[in-house]
Amino acid sequence: MDKDSVNRPNIIGGSEVGVAISVDMDKNVVHQTNSLFWDTKGSDILGATSLPLYGAFVSEESCQLFGDVSGKKMLEIGCGSGQSLQYLGERNASELWGTDISENQIEKTRQHLTACGLSAQLICSPMEDKCGIPEDYFDFVYSVYAIGWTTDLEGTFCRIASYLKKDGVFIFSWSHPIHKCVAAEDNMLVFKKSYFDESWYSVSLGESTLTLSDRKLSTYINALSKAGFVIEQMLEQSDVEILQSCDDNNDFANKAKMLPVTFVIKARKL
Ligand SMILES: C[S@@+](CC[C@H](N)C(=O)[O-])C[C@H]1O[C@@H](n2cnc3c(N)ncnc32)[C@H](O)[C@@H]1O
Repeated sequence: MDKDSVNRPNIIGGSEVGVAISVDMDKNVVHQTNSLFWDTKGSDILGATSLPLYGAFVSEESCQLFGDVSGKKMLEIGCGSGQSLQYLGERNASELWGTDISENQIEKTRQHLTACGLSAQLICSPMEDKCGIPEDYFDFVYSVYAIGWTTDLEGTFCRIASYLKKDGVFIFSWSHPIHKCVAAEDNMLVFKKSYFDESWYSVSLGESTLTLSDRKLSTYINALSKAGFVIEQMLEQSDVEILQSCDDNNDFANKAKMLPVTFVIKARKL
């Protein structure tokens, strides 16, 4: 084991994977590592990350954060396979835009939307960077399990605020930081990592590597506030109906009955 390995659980998606290797955060290296992962593996490995699901056990169908999107201009950050854009396009959004760091994910979105008879403006770019997206333009900017990949949370939220019209809405979901600290072991949930540790680490999934950090909830909330957002709603609880439909032996669902595994925030640009 490398001298810098940190022997603690790494929970990516619903399951525990590998050992964390502490790394320094270098934006270019993180982008190179992560875009290679998404170019080759895609999001299939991580499970439920597209609308109507905000994560494995939270659905837009029951929480209705978007409301009626007909005639609205939508931008997705980290559009992945394009299924969330499809969901909103089929609900008569007037314009669909998507960005993603991975060329292959952008191509997947393009093909998926074309097959569904929809079209979108798609831009391959890291969410941190200026990339030609119009400002003061969108009614909604949203992101399902992509925001946490940013190397610059405050900068990304400021950029997102610039894309929105005044009173525009930003909705995003990500792994709940408590979920990232607690592992299932011998029929118990064991706290294995400091909630306060936001250091960067790499983790291997098969032959591929991902680099990330686990931010505290307060880090997200304070960054939203600094970027000029007011939070309208935050969800932490799993949908009881989805949990009840899961097998009794589903460890992820059993964990989700005890603690939040996903959080969703709906914020408005002031
Ligand atoms: C878990 S996937 C979710 C994608 C989408 N919600 C879906 O289900 O298809 C995360 C996405 O974020 C993208 N991503 C990772 N880092 C990024 C960055 N810095 N800027 C923009 N996109 C990024 C990945 O390429 C990937 O498509």
